[in-house]
Amino acid sequence: MRHIHLIATGGTIAGTGQAGKTSGYEAGSLPVSSLLRTLPPLPADLRLTAEQICSLDSNEVDGGLWLRLARHINQLAQTDIDGFVLTHGTDTMDETAYFLNLAVKTQKPVVITGAMRPSTAASADGPFNLWQAIHLAAKPEAAGKGVLVCFCDSIYSGRDVQKVNTYKTDAFNEQDISCLGYMRDDQCYFLNSSLAVHTTASCFDVSSLTELPRVDILYFYAGAPEDALDFYASRAQGLVIAGTGSGNYSSRWVKKIRELSARRLPVVRASRIGHGIVSRDPHFEDSDNCIPAFTLPPQKARILLSLALTVTDSFEEMEEIFRKY
Ligand code: SIN
Repeated sequence: MRHIHLIATGGTIAGTGQAGKTSGYEAGSLPVSSLLRTLPPLPADLRLTAEQICSLDSNEVDGGLWLRLARHINQLAQTDIDGFVLTHGTDTMDETAYFLNLAVKTQKPVVITGAMRPSTAASADGPFNLWQAIHLAAKPEAAGKGVLVCFCDSIYSGRDVQKVNTYKTDAFNEQDISCLGYMRDDQCYFLNSSLAVHTTASCFDVSSLTELPRVDILYFYAGAPEDALDFYASRAQGLVIAGTGSGNYSSRWVKKIRELSARRLPVVRASRIGHGIVSRDPHFEDSDNCIPAFTLPPQKARILLSLALTVTDSFEEMEEIFRKY
C-alpha cells in the first residue's frame, strides 16, 4: 500500500466558471474534496489523503507561502507518507517548484500539477493531470529526483520547468532538453535527470526563516533608464536583471551596477530570452557584485539569490551557488 498525500493550494485546476467555457472563471474556488470527486479511479493499493492549505490564484503566492509549504512537507516527510502531490496554479508553478526543489529535505517524490482549463470547461485537463501526478508520486522511480512537475503526459524537473504557452493544455517545457520523461496513462518513463543540486543535498535550511530576503527583477529593454536600478537598490537586498540576449544591457546600466558594488548589492545577470546560458563575461563581471545566472531564467534566479542571501554575503560564494543549483 502506497500512501500519497495531496496538498491543494488553488489555481485553475480548482477553478469554476461558466459551463463549457475556458475564460472568465475564478481560480481556486473548488475545494479539494470536490477535486477528488472528478478523479478517474485509483488502484486499491494506493491510499490518498488530502488537505487544503490555501485556495489561491497562484499570482497571489508569495515567499511566506513557500516557507510554509516547505516546512509542512519537511514535517510530513517524517511520517508514513510515501509521496506528495501539490495542486497549484500554472502561472507561478515554475517558481514554487524551484523554491521547493531547493528547500524541501526529502528524497520522497514531491510532484506538482495543475490545469490550464477550469474544472467547468468542456476541455478541463485537471482531473487527468492530477490522476497522473498521483501515480507518479507513488512510483519508486520518482524518488530522489528533486521536486517534479507532472503536466500533460510529461514529467519536468522543478529546476528547469517553464510555462511556455498562455493557453494550450500542453503549456510547459524545459530549457533545451524538453522534459525529464513521459507519463503514459499511469506509467512513468524517465529519460533524463537534472544535475543541479536539490532537496536533501541543498545547503538551504528554511526551518527558522520568518521571511525571504527581498530580491527584485528589472527588465532591460532598448533605452531603459538606469535610475530604475537606484529605485530598487534602495529597497532590495539583491537584484536580478532580465537582460537581452546572453544577459546584456547598456553601458549606462553597466556603470550603475559597478556603483552598486560599493554598496555590496549583488546583481544577477539573467536573460529575458528563456533559453540558452548566461555565463561569465569580463565586460560585466569585472564588477565583483555581478553574477551570471547560467541557465536560470530571471524569476528562478530571483529565488536562488534570495536563498543564497540567507547563507552568505560573499559574491564569490553566490557565484558558486549559481553554478551548482
Ligand atoms: C493561476 O496560476 O492560479 C491561474 C492560472 C492557472 O492556474 O492556469
